[in-house]
Amino acid sequence: MRQFEKPTLVGGLRHKVRAEVRSLKTWIDKRTDVDELRHRVRSEVDCLKTWIEKPRDEVRFLRSWIDKPLMVGAVAPSSPELARRMASFVDPERPGLVVELGPGTGVVTEALLARGITPERIVGIEYDGDFFRLLRQRHPGVHFVHGDAYRMRHAVAPFFDATLGRPIAAVVSSLPLFTRPLSDRIRLLDESLALMAPGAPFIQFSYALVPPVPRSAGRFDLERTGWVVRNLPPARVWIYRRAT
Ligand SMILES: C[S@@+](CC[C@H](N)C(=O)[O-])C[C@H]1O[C@@H](n2cnc3c(N)ncnc32)[C@H](O)[C@@H]1O
Repeated sequence: MRQFEKPTLVGGLRHKVRAEVRSLKTWIDKRTDVDELRHRVRSEVDCLKTWIEKPRDEVRFLRSWIDKPLMVGAVAPSSPELARRMASFVDPERPGLVVELGPGTGVVTEALLARGITPERIVGIEYDGDFFRLLRQRHPGVHFVHGDAYRMRHAVAPFFDATLGRPIAAVVSSLPLFTRPLSDRIRLLDESLALMAPGAPFIQFSYALVPPVPRSAGRFDLERTGWVVRNLPPARVWIYRRAT
């Protein structure tokens, strides 16, 4: 008699791979165009890779959080919905670097790339060594700095010079700001806005009801989105711009 597998992660993975291979075989049997075939096989493989990597990222994240809860600030990577919401405030037409603070396993980086920001325009600053190495493997065209986002000016300097000092087009931050004193948060925001053109956004997500830097703390315009409920826990996005 056939033994049914327990619905473990490995069992689920095996089932998914088998189903994908079956559907691909049927599809291949009907095709004659080699380019079309190549394209489909590539996208199926990419899709499977993502499917396999996602639970691994969740384990990586949880492990980092257990080791350094205040630095990681979340038990799981952001959802693609939250990442897309953040990226939606970056205008791909605005020239200059896009600086990402705390890219983690790269969910927001992916959303920025999908938004049409070319890899060489993105500078990601990540403090955690394991995440930094993973990011470099995952997105070889993106510039990643292993360093402290609270020293952003120093970290982006080499890339900033390469863009002939053009202002930064956007800062996209997933840093757990509330784990730092308000004075550090204000300094980070002030320094970032000083490197950006008027109107360019500093984009920050948080799980809190109140903004990570209060309106009263400086001369900037502040906008916020509604809750992104497809995220654990639900989060919202805050957008700061230099006051005009
Ligand atoms: C809440 S996680 C977000 C990760 C990822 N962007 C996401 O949305 O899933 C915060 C990230 O910020 C990084 N981080 C915390 N403090 C940092 C600092 N001072 N400089 C650079 N990265 C930092 C953590 O290592 C972690 O990767």
